[in-house]
Amino acid sequence: MSIAEVYSGFATREAHGVSPAYERLALAVSRDDEVLALLGTLPPAKRQPNLLFGVVRLLGGPVEDPAAFHDWAVANWPAIAAEMRSRATQTNEAGRCAVLLPVLAALPRPLALLEVGASAGLCLYPDRYAYRYGDHQVGSGEPVLECAATGMAPPAGLPEVVWRAGLDLNPLDVTGPADLAWLDALIWPEHTHRRARLRAVAAVAAAEPPLLVRGDLVDDLPALAAQAPAGATLVVFHSSVLYQVPASRRAAFVEVVRGLPGHWIANEDPDVLRHDTLPEPPGGALNNVLALDGRPLAWTRGHGQAISWFA
Ligand SMILES: C[S@@+](CC[C@H](N)C(=O)[O-])C[C@H]1O[C@@H](n2cnc3c(N)ncnc32)[C@H](O)[C@@H]1O
Repeated sequence: MSIAEVYSGFATREAHGVSPAYERLALAVSRDDEVLALLGTLPPAKRQPNLLFGVVRLLGGPVEDPAAFHDWAVANWPAIAAEMRSRATQTNEAGRCAVLLPVLAALPRPLALLEVGASAGLCLYPDRYAYRYGDHQVGSGEPVLECAATGMAPPAGLPEVVWRAGLDLNPLDVTGPADLAWLDALIWPEHTHRRARLRAVAAVAAAEPPLLVRGDLVDDLPALAAQAPAGATLVVFHSSVLYQVPASRRAAFVEVVRGLPGHWIANEDPDVLRHDTLPEPPGGALNNVLALDGRPLAWTRGHGQAISWFA
């Protein structure tokens, strides 16, 4: 696929109906020979729209007006390219805890949580946030994570978590302003509610920072899992991570995680983590599948806004 096709595809498939600013911008870039040529100087994995737009926002450039974006991007290309080469898209969306909670709340207590691809570890605090499934609220913390749920009873309560650890190729530290600024820049322009939520969940994590280890989800998982306290249920989980992992390494990861004690929760696109049989997705952008120990349970929406239980 050409770079122009990547940007036009992003506009129509990802940004359409979600971010008018990014839809406009991605379409404009797909027709902008000068910016496309600059993107062509980067390695293929570093040319994605989310990375370009996040870096421009981080550096204070304009993303609302495509003409202003073009001029700014061309004038500031060396700085943009340097950031794109050194950074990766690693949005950390605590809203995903709302689709993990129904499974976490039903596992034997207490839990030792180990998230692979944890980013800043903001999904390691499912016991601290509050949730609203329709009219039903679970927990009393902040922020309140909203989730439209069908086909399931709301979780009875919050899990008890006695250990939380994250593994990431590049863990982010929300106790410092630099990484928080990058997480903020990755949130799409119109999503002010997600920006406010990021501040709230970062405060929760900063008050009791998780154990975050720099490492690979295949090579370094067994050693970190071995640190989990005895007497707690080890839960290895991941959400929107495996699309960043090559297929052969995904298979290696599944083998490693299946060999560990405890449970494994996956919330991933079924194109990257395959299941033998799945019902038709219900529509409404429910594109991920929640699975426990390899058994698919529900369709979920990317940022945890909705869950449709089918098991
Ligand atoms: C899109 S982010 C998702 C973060 C988080 N799971 C969430 O739900 O908000 C994917 C994360 O996976 C990490 N990652 C990608 N490949 C990895 C690997 N091989 N080992 C460990 N982490 C990896 C990236 O660094 C990034 O932080």
